[in-house]
Amino acid sequence: MNPMSELILVKTEGHVGLVTLNRPKVLNALSIELMDELIEALERFDEDDEVRVIVLAGSERAFAAGADIGDMAEASVLDMYRRNNLARWNRIKQVRTPIIAAVSGFCLGGGCELAMTCDMIVASESAQFGQPEINLGIIPGAGGTQRLTKAIGKYRAMEMILAGRFMSASEAYDAGLVTKVVSKEQFLAEAMRLAREIASRPPIAVKIGKEAVLKAQELSLTEGIEFERRVFYSLFATEDQKEGMSAFAEKRKAEFKGK
Ligand code: CAA
Repeated sequence: MNPMSELILVKTEGHVGLVTLNRPKVLNALSIELMDELIEALERFDEDDEVRVIVLAGSERAFAAGADIGDMAEASVLDMYRRNNLARWNRIKQVRTPIIAAVSGFCLGGGCELAMTCDMIVASESAQFGQPEINLGIIPGAGGTQRLTKAIGKYRAMEMILAGRFMSASEAYDAGLVTKVVSKEQFLAEAMRLAREIASRPPIAVKIGKEAVLKAQELSLTEGIEFERRVFYSLFATEDQKEGMSAFAEKRKAEFKGK
């Protein structure tokens, strides 16, 4: 990552890595350069054993208002095919560390798809979720038709994707798109609190738990349950399992080491 760049801001607080999107003048529109830096920052955190949970935040006004329309407006199909920018998003899916999106304000198009690529979404009451690509003559291209449908079901996803309707934070909560809704003053603090809570749990079990939940979106029930059983057994190879169960028997707080 270019150290001079300020398209994103990166810092760690204890075991939590925080990445903040930082293009406020364009509501955090996800330019090609911003996405490159974001993906590299997420991968760097993922390689760092000290970072157990990642929080991805925007500003109070906008998590992100979508892919940068300026990058695409004049593009030909060949430009889009050659650049293949959206294929890069698959790298976010490979990140094993849990990612919490802290969402306030506009969470639209590629911004909504980015939030849905994360593992949990803490939303401010002012958040607005939408896939308005239809108004530009296109459809979502970074997983929106698939992830939104899995999250909220066919009938509501159709309305958002075909009519471009926005969903409020409370509607999104009721529909199962977000983990929790808090005030706009609290959304980042709550995302960080949740991150610290998860970071206090045994890190290997946390990563494997994430992997197992994500399998539910890809596998049949029988295959998913078989996967779960295998990884459940594998956790008995960790020191943290011995520590967790000893601490329970000895009525003390467990000290997890990520081993
Ligand atoms: N790309 C580039 N610039 C954007 C942007 C985007 N996605 N969204 C907002 N901006 C810019 C605006 O052009 C404006 O810049 P200027 O001040 O230089 O004119 C600035 O951000 C502030 O935006 P507005 O003045 O429009 O603010 P508003 O409060 O009136 O409206 C909004 C806010 C409803 C979010 C409106 O900006 C909007 O509709 N944005 C586009 C949303 C959208 O269509 N997203 C989908 C993009 S395509 C995509 O994401 C494809 C994919 O699946 C990967």
